[in-house]
Amino acid sequence: MAVKVSPDDIRTAIAELASGKCIGLPTETVYGLAADATNGDAVARIFEMKGRPRFNPLIAHVSGLEMAMTHGNFDPLSIRLAEVFWPGPLTLILPVRQNSPVHPLVTAGLSTIGLRCPQGLSPKLIDMFGKPLAAPSANRSGRISPTRADHVTEEFADTDLVVIDGPACDTGIESTIAKVEEETITILRPGSVTSQMIRAATGIEPVPYRGEGIEAPGMMKSHYAPDAVLLTNQTNSPDGACILAFGPQSAETAKRAKHIFNLSEAGDLREAAANLYHGLKLLDATGAPQIHAQPVPETGLGSAINDRLSRAAAPR
Ligand code: TXA
Ligand code: MG
Repeated sequence: MAVKVSPDDIRTAIAELASGKCIGLPTETVYGLAADATNGDAVARIFEMKGRPRFNPLIAHVSGLEMAMTHGNFDPLSIRLAEVFWPGPLTLILPVRQNSPVHPLVTAGLSTIGLRCPQGLSPKLIDMFGKPLAAPSANRSGRISPTRADHVTEEFADTDLVVIDGPACDTGIESTIAKVEEETITILRPGSVTSQMIRAATGIEPVPYRGEGIEAPGMMKSHYAPDAVLLTNQTNSPDGACILAFGPQSAETAKRAKHIFNLSEAGDLREAAANLYHGLKLLDATGAPQIHAQPVPETGLGSAINDRLSRAAAPR
């Protein structure tokens, strides 16, 4: 059974990690399913619990830049990005250091490693543990990411798992993934550290990833998927629809809908991102066959929200 423990009970969490088990870890983006990144058995357990394809590499979470530098070969631009955005929702892809004890299962055998220092209690926990934690989102593969401790205990209800009972995630969508090569910054996955923020910090305009396949396998087309069929950019939903709304709604819309969840009545993108997965889960739990998502503007954080919506809507 999955059980919640108080965020003050760091010892229990560390004892679980030290014995090679996974824990549910709160971060500012989504809850992670975390294990000792240097322990191959522990990392394999993450894949097993998620039912995740082996080729999909995991992010190694660190306590800060110092720990990160013992695992990745940092160029000056990546250092700058870490200094500005860590702790925070930015993952950096870097060449992995030869002598890094991080297990090859974490990097899926790539010559690069994804590193991130999250906000909240994780940096302290990782510092006490003394080793990086490999952690994908704490959901079964292809399903909606968890943004509350209860989402994790529900997803793994029948599994032996300790979940740290932290706050609801305030960012609510996964970290931005960026890779520096020479003077180019490529965004492999959009997130709440936006292109504009990266440009402001570095003077360089980041480019979106255009490659095919799985340089960042989280970029797989169908991902974050509810059971219901998700329709995006819906402005005229039929009577009795199940609606994922954005912005102020007319009384008429609310009356005609069977179920409605508003990501942000005020039309605030930050609030909408924080509510996205929770709203999808609530609407999905109604058993409705379709979810009609209203349009979300493509500006700023909107592009990350639309990225997740289009993956949840992709044919499976
Ligand atoms: O916000 C987040 O990033 C959350 C929390 C728990 O930190 N984690 C998360 O992990 O979203 P996950 O496993 O769901 O997504 C990790 C992404 C995948 O798309 C993976 O392909 C990519 O990171 N990734 C990891 N290492 C990589 C590498 N060396 N090269 C390219 N992509 C990599
Ligand atoms: Mg995930």
